[in-house]
Amino acid sequence: MDIDEILNQAQTAVDAAVDLRSLDEIRVTYLGKKGELTSLLKGLGRLDPEQRPKVGALINAAKVKFQTTLDARKTLLEQQQLSAAINADAVDITLPGRSPTLGGLHPVTQALHRIEEIFLGAGYEVVAGPEIENDYYNFEALNIPSHHPARAMHDTFYFSDGTLLRTHTSPSQVRTMEQQQPPIRVICPGRVYRRDSDLTHSPMFHQVEGLVIDKGISFADLKGTVIDFLQRFFEKDLQVRFRPSYFPFTEPSAEVDVQCVHCLGDGCRVCSQTGWLEVMGCGLVHPNVLNMSGIDSEVYSGFAFGFGGDRLAMMLYEVDDLRLFFENDVRFLQQFN
Ligand code: DAH
Repeated sequence: MDIDEILNQAQTAVDAAVDLRSLDEIRVTYLGKKGELTSLLKGLGRLDPEQRPKVGALINAAKVKFQTTLDARKTLLEQQQLSAAINADAVDITLPGRSPTLGGLHPVTQALHRIEEIFLGAGYEVVAGPEIENDYYNFEALNIPSHHPARAMHDTFYFSDGTLLRTHTSPSQVRTMEQQQPPIRVICPGRVYRRDSDLTHSPMFHQVEGLVIDKGISFADLKGTVIDFLQRFFEKDLQVRFRPSYFPFTEPSAEVDVQCVHCLGDGCRVCSQTGWLEVMGCGLVHPNVLNMSGIDSEVYSGFAFGFGGDRLAMMLYEVDDLRLFFENDVRFLQQFN
């Protein structure tokens, strides 16, 4: 066969090789011990001596050309193999990362923080009291002696040793007055407990107690403080009204209603068509309470108030079922992040 024809065939085969293994097979076919170009060289001996150098040179030139084509193809296939391997191992860095989901503060906690901010801004101190109390702090020192009918309203959880779960945050008033002399300005947010569980009551809920004692504190100071607080808390110019009421630890006592945050007074389901929502109890601290805690009621006077943190959170976030705060369904909680 003609040298050029073999070279042509060999080069076509090289161009068609799709991987390094078949390329090597092609190399063997032409350049191996029994390869076609190799056999041509071996056949030189059968030629005339004068022709040998010329034909030998032609065969060698063909071999060099073939080798060049082979090398080029080999380099190309190696590169392809390498980039295929790199692609197979590749990490797609354009994918958005999987960031851990962040938790958030419970809506009641957020509302309590908001309340604390407002009172801290007005110069109050935030104090805490124990959740396990005794009869003296929860009742006696708040002018609720053992025979007092107000005790029945408290649905108290008692322990066998006579201690109890505080039914309100008012004991913190007593603890504060025992520890510091006027002027006193504190709030005490915290958990309280009652044997009560239905649509609008849970056995544990949150209250915030407020206490201010100084010389010459009057009901006007109480009214101004409560109205200002409620308007700041709801960020609305809501109407506030005080209704006469009774608490053993205050005299006079009042309950505070705020214009319904949902209907702004028109009357709706939330306010039972009254246009008002009851938000807290308050009054001027009873002289008995001051005296029992070592504060001279002839010199000092003060006011106190107490309200439900959960209730205010419900009103602020327009949540209409108290139980949602305690079920802690993440789909509910996520809305407050
Ligand atoms: N301790 C009362 C309760 O749990 C709320 C309360 C009413 C607190 C009047 C006060 C107050 O400080 O002056 O129902």
